[in-house]
Amino acid sequence: MTNVRLMSFTLFAAAGLTLAACSPSTTAPADKVEAEVVIPSERFFTADQFTYANYQDVVVKHAALDLDVDFDRKVLDGFVTLEFERLKPDAQILTLDTKDLTIKTVAMQMEDSWVLAEYTLSNPDPVLGSAMTVEIGTEATELRVYYETSPKAEGLQWLAPAQTAGKEKPYLFSQAQALYARTMLPVQDTPAVRMTYDAKLRVPEGLLPLMSASQDGKDADGNWTFSMPQPIPSYLIAIAVDDIKFKAINDTIGVYAEQYILDASAEEFAETPQMEIANTELYGPYLWGRYDLLVLPPSFPYGGMENPRLSFMTPTLIAGDKSLTNVVAHELAHSWSGNLVTNSNWRDAWLNEGFTSYVENRVMEALYGKERAMMEQVLDMEGMKRAISDAKRPELTHLKLPDDMEHPDDAFTLVSYIKGANFLFFLEDRFGRAAFDPFLKSYFNAYAFDSITTEDFLGFMDANLRNKYPDAVTDAEIDAWVYGPGLPDTARKPTSTAFDKVAASSTKWVAGDIGAADLPTTDWSTHEWLHFLNGLPELTQAQYEELDDTFSLTGTQNAETAFAWYMQAIKGGYEPAYPALEEFLMTVGRGKFIYRLYGALKDSGREDLQYWAQDVFEAASPGYHPIAQRRIGDILAE
Ligand code: BES
Ligand code: ZN
Repeated sequence: MTNVRLMSFTLFAAAGLTLAACSPSTTAPADKVEAEVVIPSERFFTADQFTYANYQDVVVKHAALDLDVDFDRKVLDGFVTLEFERLKPDAQILTLDTKDLTIKTVAMQMEDSWVLAEYTLSNPDPVLGSAMTVEIGTEATELRVYYETSPKAEGLQWLAPAQTAGKEKPYLFSQAQALYARTMLPVQDTPAVRMTYDAKLRVPEGLLPLMSASQDGKDADGNWTFSMPQPIPSYLIAIAVDDIKFKAINDTIGVYAEQYILDASAEEFAETPQMEIANTELYGPYLWGRYDLLVLPPSFPYGGMENPRLSFMTPTLIAGDKSLTNVVAHELAHSWSGNLVTNSNWRDAWLNEGFTSYVENRVMEALYGKERAMMEQVLDMEGMKRAISDAKRPELTHLKLPDDMEHPDDAFTLVSYIKGANFLFFLEDRFGRAAFDPFLKSYFNAYAFDSITTEDFLGFMDANLRNKYPDAVTDAEIDAWVYGPGLPDTARKPTSTAFDKVAASSTKWVAGDIGAADLPTTDWSTHEWLHFLNGLPELTQAQYEELDDTFSLTGTQNAETAFAWYMQAIKGGYEPAYPALEEFLMTVGRGKFIYRLYGALKDSGREDLQYWAQDVFEAASPGYHPIAQRRIGDILAE
């Protein structure tokens, strides 16, 4: 433990905190608890190998966007003004990330006028894009870049009216994480750099634009205006435009969606306010103002994306029974882990995703009890073990990922999510909740609006937790979790009595001792169904048929159950499910499902299924998001 600076922080016991409090000063003083928190003065640095930005020399502090959303040409067209600060006073170069952007003019502010600035664009790298190097001299602190995006921009999906549910209006939505903000604007595209932003957008009549910011309405000139006053990394800049409707859940939380799914979404996500309260009670105030959810078209490639103030969600969560809302708990939890305290590079992605998966599970427990939280831990653990055994190399199963990782996609495996969460479960078990919960709260407070590394977290833990309980964990145990492969044997072994019962009846049915109709499924939750389906061995065709006839699994409307069933159907060659599987692949673009389904078809060892997968992909591909098109193309080509 080196060089620590003592600081006294005021922590807030959040009981009675109003929702969406904007600053800690809105809490009742009676709730104050004084605690001493030590922020180590030594900060660790891990270079971000996925950016060209010279962010050690100059940092962009604010971006002001002024853009036309042009659906005819499928481009964003306009300019961005970047305000920057020199960390090295003699820096005369600002290097930005760009990918597939057409740069038209670059100007910088000199005294009272804008003068043209010299710049170069490097040859494009297929992953990183082109470095844009601008000569900024020694005086300028603002740069304006006139540009337009490409219709092929990987971070933007432009849907024709026919591809939306309403069929009348086109749809645009963005997905900037991890490397796609640079396809939307010239930017220092690294999570190490945080900036505020504002925007003016012009969109066709009848469409509503939304951003990951405060929606400030239309100005006198007809621009839709937005502002994000909290500094965020570039991967959290987001935009969506469509004939979008809104329904409030309470005063500070609501849902945006196309009309067809608006009421169902508000109903499905009705417990979001309780989730926010649970989060706040554990980890301190929600610091972003409003929290809204936007339900996107089915081609959205993720379950959810934590765009600040406005999480983007897949419509596959709208199951009708609130069974899949852990994804809401997850995206909301990012308002603390990820958006407030951010990994400063993708090698430390577990600081975002592992912490968030941990917080998600704590919130699910607070709302729905231990049994549901445990079921989710067991399901997650099964998925993670598979991710560990599928890893391309052992280093990709470390929490601190290797410096020669090829693409940030390698950072977003269940290793970062679930091994990360399990490291925190391990710490929680060793220190006890009474010590660990306030510690995590103080961590979010200490590094709020900052970007940090794994080593910063470990240093903070040394100075604020391990110092008080020196015998709770050893250095070797921590090293095994963070810098070692696979799952350490100190991991918690989650169990669920409900799942044990499911497994016991499954065994009886598989052995032929009972019929499918005798399985005690009446009270099974989606989780129990998933455990049952995931645990099935390869069955006989008659057994698949019996299951399907008894429970109508083929074509089920719960996307998670459908996915689990189709994985079994591929494994066992159960062909009656294939037309519904095709329909699923044609309509759902959520990567978690379709990458594995295509992967299973490809790995089935059956040539007919491999050709079929290729044909389905060709037919479905125009409807997939550019990110999904690339990923599936790679899977089928491997
Ligand atoms: N930040 C991720 C989504 C993401 C990951 C975007 C990698 C770009 C690259 C988001 O918070 C997330 O993890 N979503 C999960 C849901 C969660 C419950 C595991 C998803 O999309 O399935
Ligand atoms: Zn996440």
